[in-house]
Amino acid sequence: MKSLEDKVVLITGTAAGMGATHARLFAEEGAKVIATDIRAEGCADLIRDFGDQVLYLQHDVSDAASWQSVVEQGTLAFGPITVLVNNAGIAGPNAFTTELSIEDYLRTIAVDEHGIFYGMRLVIPGMIAAGGGSIVNISSVAGMAHAPGTPNIAYTASKAAVRGMTKAAAVEYARQGIRVNSVHPGGVLTEMMATQITEEQKEAIAALVPMGRMADPREVSQTVLYLASDDSSYITGAEIVVDGGMLAK
Ligand SMILES: NC(=O)c1ccc[n+]([C@@H]2O[C@H](COP(=O)([O-])OP(=O)(O)OC[C@H]3O[C@@H](n4cnc5c(N)ncnc54)[C@H](O)[C@@H]3O)[C@@H](O)[C@H]2O)c1
Repeated sequence: MKSLEDKVVLITGTAAGMGATHARLFAEEGAKVIATDIRAEGCADLIRDFGDQVLYLQHDVSDAASWQSVVEQGTLAFGPITVLVNNAGIAGPNAFTTELSIEDYLRTIAVDEHGIFYGMRLVIPGMIAAGGGSIVNISSVAGMAHAPGTPNIAYTASKAAVRGMTKAAAVEYARQGIRVNSVHPGGVLTEMMATQITEEQKEAIAALVPMGRMADPREVSQTVLYLASDDSSYITGAEIVVDGGMLAK
């Protein structure tokens, strides 16, 4: 049996980057996937390959009403959501604290931190009614330390908040069969990153990593899959770093 055969999964930020990779791996593993993104259109390849197994919805994670709408539509299509992957995120401008505008600070917090609270708040009651579930919150190495290349204080603050919120929700709902964990990627060579940075920049980032390279997005997806599936049935409130050893230095 595939590892997500009986799961209904909501993944945010699936039109690009790691979210797209998570959605594909989860569909391959048999999940019904509610794939959402702020972009009006996305996941065309996934829908072509997996048809009715995938529902794509436009969704702004920083907007509580938008969450309400996607959870309602997704549940109507596939039944109760039993896995939530809070992946959507923005980096915001690369700026020191005194150079970061208040608008940019608040927008980053709204997407990267508030969005995760809205999602967990809405999805948990359905998971309890369904007998349990798994929530995977995507943080970053930036949520654990001021990692090299971290864009700004808002990103660091929101990713650290994700780490804390994960543990709070994990403890609150452990007795109801809901597991909540966070994943902390280091440098990941998403398609966008691969086309936007020069070979020289790529080498400079890789040089900071003990393994000497950035991650392939699928290496992060495999970790998310493990936490989403019943294979990790005794893991909750945990944080898994996927950084090629960057934080161990
Ligand atoms: N790429 C990295 O090296 C790296 C490292 C550590 C953590 N992360 C985290 O991993 C997650 C995915 O990163 P990525 O590199 O794949 O990003 P990406 O920019 O490639 O993709 C992010 C997706 O989220 C969507 N999105 C943006 N704002 C949204 C909103 N308000 N509502 C819904 N969707 C929205 C975008 O349209 C995009 O499709 C993010 O939370 C990011 O902070 C990334």
